[in-house]
Amino acid sequence: MFKEKNLSPKQLAALTALLLATIFGLSVFALIASWKVLLMYFIACFVVIYFIVYKIMEFFIYRKIKLIYKLISSTKATKREEAFQKYILPQKGIDDVREDVEQWATQQSEQILQLQSNEAFRKEFLQNLSHEIKTPIFAIQGYLELIADGAMENPAIGNKFINQAQANVQRLVGLLNGVDVITKLEINKEPILKTAFIIQDLINEVVHNLSVKWLKKNIQFQYKKGSENPVQVFADRNKIYQLLVNVFSNAAKYGKIDGFITASIYEMEDGKILIEISDDGIGIAEEHIPRLFERFYRTDDARSREVGGSGLGLAICKHIIEAHNESIQIRSKLNVGTTLGFTLASKV
Ligand SMILES: Nc1ncnc2c1ncn2[C@@H]1O[C@H](COP(=O)(O)OP(=O)(O)OP(=O)(O)O)[C@@H](O)[C@H]1O
Ligand SMILES: [Mg+2]
Repeated sequence: MFKEKNLSPKQLAALTALLLATIFGLSVFALIASWKVLLMYFIACFVVIYFIVYKIMEFFIYRKIKLIYKLISSTKATKREEAFQKYILPQKGIDDVREDVEQWATQQSEQILQLQSNEAFRKEFLQNLSHEIKTPIFAIQGYLELIADGAMENPAIGNKFINQAQANVQRLVGLLNGVDVITKLEINKEPILKTAFIIQDLINEVVHNLSVKWLKKNIQFQYKKGSENPVQVFADRNKIYQLLVNVFSNAAKYGKIDGFITASIYEMEDGKILIEISDDGIGIAEEHIPRLFERFYRTDDARSREVGGSGLGLAICKHIIEAHNESIQIRSKLNVGTTLGFTLASKV
């Protein structure tokens, strides 16, 4: 009838009443030796003791336990909570209460850990951001000071400083745009709007819009053999456009002079399309690869510093692909080249 450990207050009161009523009943029986009196005495003792013990427990213990549940419960006194207090709480044994409190404590410490890591993440983001903003601002300040100090007396030098200041303003604008994009993606402000389109059409559009910038390096674009045939994908066209701009910009920025950018499209067995953009540029050392998708992460490579950039491009790409529930990865070898691949759904 009673579980050994987990006695509810009613069970506990009944057990105590049973024990005491039996002792009192037997004592009376020893004195009077009447079964009738014994039975009446037993019943009366049982009822009175049960009532007293139950009320004492309710008053001294369960009121306090109710308070504990009020403290650990995150909901307000709703109908559900009232029903809980009325019907479920009285059934709970002390062990059940202990388990509930322990569960609550674990939840709390998990929440605290989550808050701490969010806080650390926020601090790191602000630290990185202020560092990234400081560099171009200080450069602009320096050039303006040089101009104010009379650099314009030599117009060639003066114009050079103005151009440098302008380039740094451009860098700042690029950085702030990147932060804007990534923040919007993170708070899901821009929902993913999927449509069906031909991936090669979008790649051609990106190449057409960017290739003027590649002229200086004489970089050429090509499809891998067999990848020219139109393949339909189902994705957010604008976001994939944004992703391809970042990927092609990297391929050109870190690509070599007279190099090639190659696009390969593979139809995979599970109905997914794999798109790979490869370059034959400077490549990336193995130790950097796991961190490339972190915000602001750039390799220490001097050349990569020289060409500038905020280190947000790949973080944005990863966000876009994850919002599509797809995957993205990079393969690279130093001085050989880099391949960035991502998957997209082929149909609805
Ligand atoms: N195709 C590539 N070849 C060599 N290195 C690359 C390539 N793509 C990315 N990287 C390395 O990865 C880093 C991160 O790339 P990401 O696109 O996130 O930043 P970024 O190009 O420096 O700046 P942003 O794209 O924000 O202007 C780059 O700084 C560069 O060191
Ligand atoms: Mg980039």
